[in-house]
Amino acid sequence: MKASVLRAPGGYSRIEIQNIPDPGEPGPGEMRIALHASSLNYHDLLIAKGSLPTADGRTLMSDGAGVVEVVGAGVTEFQPGDHVVSCFFPQWCDGGPSDSVGNYGQTPGDGVDGFASEFTVRPAGHFTRAPKDWSHSEAATITTAGLTAWRALVGDGHLKAGDTVLILGTGGVSLAALQICCMMGAKAIVTSSSDEKLGRARALGATHCVNYRNNAAWGAKVMELTDGRGVDHVIELGGPGTLSQSIDAVRVGGHISLIGVLTGRQGDVPTARLMGKQVRLQGLVVGNRRQQQEYVAALEGSDVRPVIDRSFALEDLPEAFRYQERGSHFGKICTEW
Ligand SMILES: NC(=O)c1ccc[n+]([C@@H]2O[C@H](COP(=O)([O-])OP(=O)(O)OC[C@H]3O[C@@H](n4cnc5c(N)ncnc54)[C@H](OP(=O)(O)O)[C@@H]3O)[C@@H](O)[C@H]2O)c1
Repeated sequence: MKASVLRAPGGYSRIEIQNIPDPGEPGPGEMRIALHASSLNYHDLLIAKGSLPTADGRTLMSDGAGVVEVVGAGVTEFQPGDHVVSCFFPQWCDGGPSDSVGNYGQTPGDGVDGFASEFTVRPAGHFTRAPKDWSHSEAATITTAGLTAWRALVGDGHLKAGDTVLILGTGGVSLAALQICCMMGAKAIVTSSSDEKLGRARALGATHCVNYRNNAAWGAKVMELTDGRGVDHVIELGGPGTLSQSIDAVRVGGHISLIGVLTGRQGDVPTARLMGKQVRLQGLVVGNRRQQQEYVAALEGSDVRPVIDRSFALEDLPEAFRYQERGSHFGKICTEW
């Protein structure tokens, strides 16, 4: 079967379409899935570039969506024909994070083979149902970006109608967070480097928009937009270069979800202000299978559909990563076959 694999030591020119062995029939507790789509995340990009080393010949991509073809003995949750979407941490079913989810050792496309292939055979619990009537590309956005936003706001943040959320950027995690705010009656303030993207965020339901390039003190601007109160939650994607402004923008007793480190891996943290405002700063990596099931149920009860900027053929995955790296996208980039 066809697969997109990465040859060591990585780099876009080391991504190859190869014929790899068909995974065959499922054993007890497993299912065979015909995969049709994946979506690109920063984690996949780091693997593809070789910045996060992985095994020679690794099948790429953490997100996977497709159709169940055959179920093995004892599988009762799914049946042939079901549309399913993969889990980022297949071994993390429920509850809080543990050591086993800290090292990506079982994360598809990193510690184990990913989903950039025509078929896979995995334990049934490594997937959940996809939302009814969603395309495979739409469903694939749930695994990493969507679930991260859901866990940040709902699992960790206990988001309520009327809450105000500051969302940094307009990529995959950010727009999933914006759509969750709309679904749940929360207000969203979105920042971007682009006025054009901000116009599109407003059309999707953002209450306020701030261009972080033109407003160096965007934290103070957000404080002004909330009448001096500050936001209840922050979707923090920048890390060291943005955290100080996010602390400016959050209310006393508010919640910051530390999700991304787009501006660097370490830096100064204004610890006294963080303490003085009694802010809850929560680092998080994606979420568990139970949260994914709850997210899928919530999506099915809404009319939200993910924002897909562009889709590429599997053969064009190197070009898709270059496009992602250029940063002009709004929402998700997908690959489908
Ligand atoms: N912890 C987790 O579980 C988890 C899960 C998924 C992703 N992430 C991380 O979250 C980050 C975003 O992921 P993604 O998939 O949403 O990426 P993406 O689709 O590529 O979007 C990145 C967005 O970040 C915005 N951005 C870049 N620099 C910024 C800055 N200085 N201030 C504010 N916004 C900035 C850009 O917005 P504009 O173009 O509008 O300026 C860009 O659209 C990455 O660091 C990724 O590794 C973490």
